Amino acid sequence: MLRLCMVLCLLSPSWGYEVEQITEPLLLGEGPHWNALTQLLYFVDITNSTIHVYDPSTGVHNYTTLDGGAVTFIIPIAGTTDEFLISTELDIRHVIWDGQQDSTPESSIIYSAVQDSDGSRFNDAKVDRSGTLWAGTMGPEVTADVITERTGKLYRVTPYSSITTQLEDLLISNGLAWSADGTIMYYTDTGDNTIDSFDFNATADNPLSNRQHLFNFTEQAINGTSDGFTIDTDGNLWLACYGGYQVIVVNPTNGSLLMSIPLNSSKVTSLAWGGQELDELYVTTAKKGLSDDELTNYPESGATYRITGLGSRGYAGDNYVMYTTTTTSDSNSLHFTKISTFIYAFIMLILTCS
Ligand SMILES: *[C@@H]1O[C@H](CO)[C@@H](O)[C@H](O)[C@H]1NC(C)=O
Ligand SMILES: *[C@@H]1O[C@H](CO)[C@@H](O)[C@H](O)[C@H]1NC(C)=O
Ligand SMILES: *[C@@H]1O[C@H](CO)[C@@H](O)[C@H](O)[C@H]1NC(C)=O
Ligand SMILES: *[C@@H]1O[C@H](CO)[C@@H](O)[C@H](O)[C@H]1NC(C)=O
Ligand SMILES: *[C@@H]1O[C@H](CO)[C@@H](O)[C@H](O)[C@H]1NC(C)=O
Ligand SMILES: *[C@@H]1O[C@H](CO)[C@@H](O)[C@H](O)[C@H]1NC(C)=O
Ligand SMILES: *[C@@H]1O[C@H](CO)[C@@H](O)[C@H](O)[C@H]1NC(C)=O
Repeated sequence: MLRLCMVLCLLSPSWGYEVEQITEPLLLGEGPHWNALTQLLYFVDITNSTIHVYDPSTGVHNYTTLDGGAVTFIIPIAGTTDEFLISTELDIRHVIWDGQQDSTPESSIIYSAVQDSDGSRFNDAKVDRSGTLWAGTMGPEVTADVITERTGKLYRVTPYSSITTQLEDLLISNGLAWSADGTIMYYTDTGDNTIDSFDFNATADNPLSNRQHLFNFTEQAINGTSDGFTIDTDGNLWLACYGGYQVIVVNPTNGSLLMSIPLNSSKVTSLAWGGQELDELYVTTAKKGLSDDELTNYPESGATYRITGLGSRGYAGDNYVMYTTTTTSDSNSLHFTKISTFIYAFIMLILTCS
């Protein structure tokens, strides 16, 4: 009995959390997004141009290939179960995918950032609390993980309007998160290696103001560079450390490092809360560009993980509001819009016929 306890205590470190590998290694896993409507986790493999879905109720992990190059995010469209916004290179597509293994998605390009320079591509993207998409780009990759041109931009994509530039001169536009009340946007450009904050006003023409550097990875000697991140209900930030074998937790109000969660995968790319109680942390990693030695010593590199027992909770992914001109992401309003369109069409039909 005592021995069992000792084994359990060794397995679960002082925080009592547990790290579980839920997928085989990916080349460049990214963009985890928990869809509260379907209780499914979506993510991508950028390098392999694949979109992925994981169903925690069955443990089944499905994926399929999307033609068109690097796929960097998959964000569900609010109120739907099979429609997504997905980037390929410098395009944003509307994609319909049933989630079945290897089934062919239907896709059409709806926005483009082709004004960005050759070799640039989209990178991380998130939807703010009002249903608008924020999608960043990065400069061309000269060789593996080496980007020298600050040609990246951060775009705001509002339904029924054009795509507008909000930030420029970025090296690698990366993690995004909003405070619970939506008045602060947290952001990182990996080129700065800092976590920044902006005062945020979703309805203003220029939503971002008052940029501040809150946490500097270089100054704090953090292993790894700043990549994707997410926020918990206490307002703390959970940060992927690319090349650092860890996730760290930072309090953005006083800049203190609260915790480090080591992983057996060096290139930690992003993370998202999920599960029924939103108390499970899903983490994506990459194996692309690792040396043979690293791959031998860390065969899990590139795996997707679920970490449970952390004692913290976050938020489900915000989905893109596409089918209504109101700013609510409530699926009822979507149904209302669809039903009213149907009733209108029906009345017009009767009027036309009589
Ligand atoms: C890349 O995608 C293809 C097609 O879906 C799949 O068969 C292959 O296993 C993937 N490769 C890696 C390294 O994940
Ligand atoms: C995964 O694919 C299998 C077989 O195609 C299917 O039965 C299952 O419903 C799919 N899972 C999801 C989440 O769509
Ligand atoms: C947000 O922007 C709108 C539109 O410009 C403005 O009316 C409103 O006062 C702003 N809110 C805050 C808190 O600044
Ligand atoms: C972060 O800290 C490093 C080392 O002190 C410094 O060189 C760099 O300018 C800082 N970055 C920013 C954006 O302030
Ligand atoms: C950073 O990583 C090195 C090995 O790569 C390790 O020796 C060192 O303890 C780590 N530092 C921290 C603060 O985790
Ligand atoms: C920052 O806040 C945390 C609570 O999240 C607290 O534990 C820590 O001591 C504070 N650090 C500083 C430097 O004030
Ligand atoms: C990493 O792998 C080693 C060897 O399998 C294992 O003992 C250790 O607990 C793992 N660490 C983490 C953080 O998963």
